[in-house]
Amino acid sequence: MNGRIICVAQQKGGAGKTTLVTNLAITYLSEGKSVALLDTDPQGSLGKWMDIREETLGENTNLQFATATSYGISRAIRGVGSEVDVILIDTPPKADSDVRWVLRDSDLVLVPVSASQADVWATHDILDLADRTGKPTHIVMNRTRVGTRVGEHVAKSVAELEAMQLKSSLANRVIYAEALGRGLGAIEVKKTGAASDEIRSLAREVSEILEL
Ligand SMILES: Nc1ncnc2c1ncn2[C@@H]1O[C@H](COP(=O)(O)OP(=O)(O)OP(=O)(O)O)[C@@H](O)[C@H]1O
Ligand SMILES: [Mg+2]
Repeated sequence: MNGRIICVAQQKGGAGKTTLVTNLAITYLSEGKSVALLDTDPQGSLGKWMDIREETLGENTNLQFATATSYGISRAIRGVGSEVDVILIDTPPKADSDVRWVLRDSDLVLVPVSASQADVWATHDILDLADRTGKPTHIVMNRTRVGTRVGEHVAKSVAELEAMQLKSSLANRVIYAEALGRGLGAIEVKKTGAASDEIRSLAREVSEILEL
């Protein structure tokens, strides 16, 4: 298996797991990389996104999709074949023992933290689990609101978590919600601009960590 495996996990619902998975996937795809998406979340949001995408754009052999159980993740990874460059795994809003199977098979764990204190509280469990598997784990700030008091408080609480954090973050922008609903990545809704800049910078930072 040559593909680098990125797992996006966070117990808190709505933190931006699926948003991160879809936007990283589309950014890597736009760079000519082949990407496989594995959805271990029974809510099926990623599959829905993929259905809408294929209805509008047709199939793309460089973008594979499969559902998997956490327990069956190794088999699902083998199933995508050895040619794929990046495997992105979406997970449910839980930090139970099941997610450990996914963490164990990952090269990198990304933990989105949305700009609310509740997200920070929820982050301890997933950090503990990831720590026990010894996998490199980075927090990714999502829905940031620069210049607000809540934004500053959350940033301070995250810094106190003693976890690694990506320098890049995603701001709170309608384009992410729009892109998700249309089966697109934000860079496909608008090629240039603030969202496109920040997602490309995030993808680059992740590539550097994984030597992609
Ligand atoms: N940076 C952002 N700016 C604006 N809206 C966002 C942003 N990130 C996520 N959202 C929106 O917030 C909602 C939740 O995001 P998303 O589905 O990615 O979270 P999740 O962690 O996958 O949720 P779940 O735990 O239910 O799987 C979606 O409607 C999404 O479009
Ligand atoms: Mg999700």
